[in-house]
Amino acid sequence: MDCEAFIQEQIASIRQIVGGGLAINALSGGVDSSVVTVLGHRALGDRLKTVFVDNALMRQGEPQYVVSLFTQMGIPVELIDARAEFLRALAGLVDPEEKRSAITRTFYRDVFGRLVRQSGARFLLHGTILTDIEETVSGIKRQHNILTQLGIDPEQEYGYQVIEPLKELRKDAVRQVGRVLGLPPEITERIPFPGPALAARIVGEVTEERLATVRAATAIVEEELGDWGAFQYMAVLLSDRATGIRNGQREFGEIIVVRCIDSVDARQASVVELPWSKLRAISERITAIPGVNRCLYDLTPKPPATIEYV
Ligand code: XMP
Repeated sequence: MDCEAFIQEQIASIRQIVGGGLAINALSGGVDSSVVTVLGHRALGDRLKTVFVDNALMRQGEPQYVVSLFTQMGIPVELIDARAEFLRALAGLVDPEEKRSAITRTFYRDVFGRLVRQSGARFLLHGTILTDIEETVSGIKRQHNILTQLGIDPEQEYGYQVIEPLKELRKDAVRQVGRVLGLPPEITERIPFPGPALAARIVGEVTEERLATVRAATAIVEEELGDWGAFQYMAVLLSDRATGIRNGQREFGEIIVVRCIDSVDARQASVVELPWSKLRAISERITAIPGVNRCLYDLTPKPPATIEYV
């Protein structure tokens, strides 16, 4: 693919659609939203307002890391603290699709609706890619960022129009465009991370305490497997519990699943055959997290499993 031509076309098209108006976009620090942020800034300059919404579901240190990285690149990012709002919306929900829709609603209707009204923007620049659309339309999973394809008219429902410059690209092409745009490898080579963030890795209710557990496990897995060259790796918190022993006492503890997969475009995935010593090191660190007394390695490819658990 000719990345330069793609970039020029998208810049022209964003300028034409937005005209003299204002646009807003949410940066998550993933490849897709980072590429959209740079494209949007090239097209609109300071007529694009970029926000990072802290939804309480982020990885350790993520909001501060992403905001400072883009600030260094000369792109100002406003950090919006919406943690309480998301935790309220998720309280009591255990069904995967209900959790996903609560996140979509809180993000697009409540938080974004408000930000758009306050900023006077009429356009939302959005990092939807082809795979998100395909999997949602085929009914495999409702991706958090799909609106129109699910029959939601954002203009009517939320008061803004959505622009999706990446909707014909797959992940590998988005990474290429990011490299040509000059994004650093920390971003362009970053492993995929789902929009619903750590909520996609908690089976059952999402609470602050359960988020802290999966966040700690995620940090360990990312540290241990960062150099492995796998497509994606993660920690998942199950809703079951298991009996264990800690300090000589019986403990009915939490169970963490570790997943590490290879894939080209996330449509199919195979499990990485990690050496026993690596698995043991990960397991020892994970079972040192307070309340966690089991660590399992997931051997299931996609299909029949999906990559995420929720
Ligand atoms: P699944 O679990 O569907 O994941 O096999 C395929 C790839 O997509 C990521 N994923 C998401 N990305 N919003 C996203 O932006 C989502 O709602 C979402 N769900 C899954 C997942 O991490 C994997 O790379």
